[in-house]
Amino acid sequence: MTFPNGFIWGAATSAYQIEGAAGDDGRGPSIWDEFCRRPGAVRQGASGDIACDHYHRFRHDVALMQGLGLQAYRFSISWPRVLPCGMGAVNEAGLDFYDRLTDGLLASGITPYVTLYHWDYPLALHRFGGWLHPESSDWFARYAEVIADRLSDRVRHWITFNEPQIFVGFGYQDGTHAPGQKLELSKILTIGHNVLLAHGKAVQVVRSRSRSTPAIGYALSVSPVAVPATESEDDIQAARRAFFAPSRPLSINNSWWTDPVVLGHYPEDGLALFEKDLPSMGKDDLRTICQPLDFLGLNVYFGETYRAGADGAPEVVPFAPDHERTSFNWPVAPESLYWASKFYAERYNLPLIISENGMAAHDTVSPDGAVHDPQRIDFLKRYLREVQRACAEGVDVCGYFVWSLLDNFEWAEGYCQRFGIVHVDYPAQQRTIKDSGLWYKKVIATNGAIL
Ligand code: FCB
Repeated sequence: MTFPNGFIWGAATSAYQIEGAAGDDGRGPSIWDEFCRRPGAVRQGASGDIACDHYHRFRHDVALMQGLGLQAYRFSISWPRVLPCGMGAVNEAGLDFYDRLTDGLLASGITPYVTLYHWDYPLALHRFGGWLHPESSDWFARYAEVIADRLSDRVRHWITFNEPQIFVGFGYQDGTHAPGQKLELSKILTIGHNVLLAHGKAVQVVRSRSRSTPAIGYALSVSPVAVPATESEDDIQAARRAFFAPSRPLSINNSWWTDPVVLGHYPEDGLALFEKDLPSMGKDDLRTICQPLDFLGLNVYFGETYRAGADGAPEVVPFAPDHERTSFNWPVAPESLYWASKFYAERYNLPLIISENGMAAHDTVSPDGAVHDPQRIDFLKRYLREVQRACAEGVDVCGYFVWSLLDNFEWAEGYCQRFGIVHVDYPAQQRTIKDSGLWYKKVIATNGAIL
């Protein structure tokens, strides 16, 4: 079993989850700094103040990546580290950090994939109206300009947003993520529209200002992926319908977040569902939102099984009570990777990368000094075989990024979920490559042949 030539093997992280150094070198506060201080918002009152202290230890971490044979590393830039107030004065020290990180990666033969926004919105802009503000997409475009001007001579691979459905759905609808709001639907949809506009403007900015030819993408959260119960055409069609159906929780909504970006319009069924709460849209908005893209990123963790009901309508087939689950309680469903890739390729006809995939477990350092995580090896093996199956059928999946390089701050879960292929002992800031990391190294070295 091998993967296409040139398939990219990487690992992913995000700024707030690993950097720490929250008050260092002029970084401004983000909505996550504030949210973490709210009693009860994050498990055990944890925060990303220190996290993996990657800001100070990045050279060591890049050496770890090199040791693992990573070909690519996906990281995000902290907007408030670069623009402490979100706009206006640039914090050169913050920008320098990403410069050094980029240079370190390139010197180690690792291709940087830069995510512009992975949820750490500048607190100052939030107080100024945030994503509800009519100029919010321009603020983001200006930030993208600063980053492109500084890094595009060396960075070619860009992702504008990470999982818009999650940060909008959890942050402004359920209130379980920063900034912890529960807004009315019309406001949430306005926020979503502004985020899509910001995506479009950022693509224009990065494309026009890049000093090397850029490859630009957009990363979606597609879990739970609707997996057909059998491979009958009816079940496949039922799963496809469920996968792209609009739903009121904005966090589970694939077409709403992808159709405008790739197809240039909101989905009809979504427009009907949200009819009374739709934001006002400028006449050129969709043209701005729909910019040519080079790839879509899919973050895939778990699935849900569907079959065709009597009238062909999707019907959930519940998992058995003892179905295997990760420590996050997410049901293990390897086929979700195959079906997410297939359904996305069919509908959007763009190259895909798996921009995140992995599992949380309660990993510990054993007396022998190693971290034995056979369940993660098993998980990754089974999910990767499904990527291979998609590739073998001609679906254009061109890369895979394991979530995550390091155990890290898992948002509202604090430090209770370990996703890394490298274990982090937080008090000692000690890194230990887990068995899964050593195994992943062999996967990369053989381009998947050992699977
Ligand atoms: C995704 C996020 C990522 C991480 C994983 C477990 O939704 O993009 O930051 O938290 O889940």
